[in-house]
Amino acid sequence: MARHKTAYVCQNCGAAASKWAGQCPDCGAWNTLVESIVAATPTRAAGRSAAAVGGSAVRRLHEVDAESAPRLASGLSEMDRVLGGGLVRGAVILIGGDPGIGKSTLLLQMLAAVEGRVDTLYVTGEESLSQVALRAKRLGLPRVDLPALAETSIETVLAAVSATRPGLVVIDSIQTLYTESLDSAPGSVSQLRECAAQLVQHAKRTGTTVILVGHVTKEGAIAGPRVLEHMVDTVLYFEHDPGSRFRLIRAVKNRFGAVNELGVFAMTDAGLKEVSNPSALFLSRHEQPVPGSVITVTRQGTRPMLVEVQALVDRSMIGNPRRVALGLEGNRLNMLLAVLHRHGGVALGDQDVFANVVGGMRITEPAADLPLLMAALSSFRGRPVPTDLVVFGEVGLAGEIRPVQGGEDRLSEAAKQGFKRALVPEANKPRRGTKLDIEVIAVNRLDQALAEIQ
Ligand code: TYD
Ligand code: MG
Repeated sequence: MARHKTAYVCQNCGAAASKWAGQCPDCGAWNTLVESIVAATPTRAAGRSAAAVGGSAVRRLHEVDAESAPRLASGLSEMDRVLGGGLVRGAVILIGGDPGIGKSTLLLQMLAAVEGRVDTLYVTGEESLSQVALRAKRLGLPRVDLPALAETSIETVLAAVSATRPGLVVIDSIQTLYTESLDSAPGSVSQLRECAAQLVQHAKRTGTTVILVGHVTKEGAIAGPRVLEHMVDTVLYFEHDPGSRFRLIRAVKNRFGAVNELGVFAMTDAGLKEVSNPSALFLSRHEQPVPGSVITVTRQGTRPMLVEVQALVDRSMIGNPRRVALGLEGNRLNMLLAVLHRHGGVALGDQDVFANVVGGMRITEPAADLPLLMAALSSFRGRPVPTDLVVFGEVGLAGEIRPVQGGEDRLSEAAKQGFKRALVPEANKPRRGTKLDIEVIAVNRLDQALAEIQ
């Protein structure tokens, strides 16, 4: 096969060099030279071929056929939820996650679930076919005769894909693929980008759905999935709490649906099982009310979910008290403690404050502000918050309680899970006439909220 001309291109300024160097001779950035393919007659040739297929004419948007293509259900409803309703033709999906978290298991189960509705191909560069077959058997998949290919050369993979024309291709993993036109080792940034680019091109041209597996790695010789995020349509990350059997799959980018959408699975000895009512998972359900624990309703994408926020406030033994936040933002915790001091009149300056979200959940939205403050205060005073109460709301620097998105969804989820009372921002109070099976206590200011739990 003909070798392409390659050059070392700086990822910072775009300068090209013929040899690798530690520092870019042009902009002076370190470690930015990456081997890349240089096309012989780049722009002009590409422009001509696009014009020939009629793809580059200027058109008005309303004339463009924007009929949404029917989505292919993946057979796993939690997966469909994060994908925004199923697999889209021609989409490229990247699934990232730590090694051993269950990416191969999930995709094998998904391929078995779509079996019969679309032709598939499972390309494995990591395991031998007998290992894959053994896993499929262990998973008790209904049919173990899925088409599979053990290959690491992108040229061979694309040839096989062109020959068999599957509608869904899984590449496990993109880091094991390499192209013969580059000298660098499989897994390096340039190999990763080039292989992914060829697969994306194939997907767009033929309408094949491609799923790429990417291992999240420590920075080093092997590049992680982050370098591919801009090239693909959808980026999903698999997360888990060490030691827990639950697996969360989160959409961080999706051209075909909402981001931050969350799917929940549990790893069992027969593979991943869907958890369709995850609210119960993130609550500890204490027998007796305990200080420092507050239940909140967080929204992950479009799904409201109940989670328990815990805080432990204890006298500090060191001069500089510790502030530790797990699953929550550390800076926000500091800011909230300042608001609690200034507007709530509670000084925690000589106390260590630890905050945690139960079950390894990560909350990035401000709706957890008020519950976090109440948990801290409850722990500080040693007085529990009632167990039938849920709390949500953003806390502003002026001590005001600000509304959050999707208030009614959150309230109805709390009511569904059997909570009797909700402490919420005034503006999130349901409109009159809305029937909700929960008593709503609406507050405007932090001191009002704190007065509710005296
Ligand atoms: P795997 O899908 O190989 O992870 P990845 O492809 O993300 O590297 O998952 C491997 C882990 O899952 C392994 O530690 C064993 C566990 N596992 C189960 O607990 N039950 C099962 O049925 C299977 C297939 C795997
Ligand atoms: Mg794997």
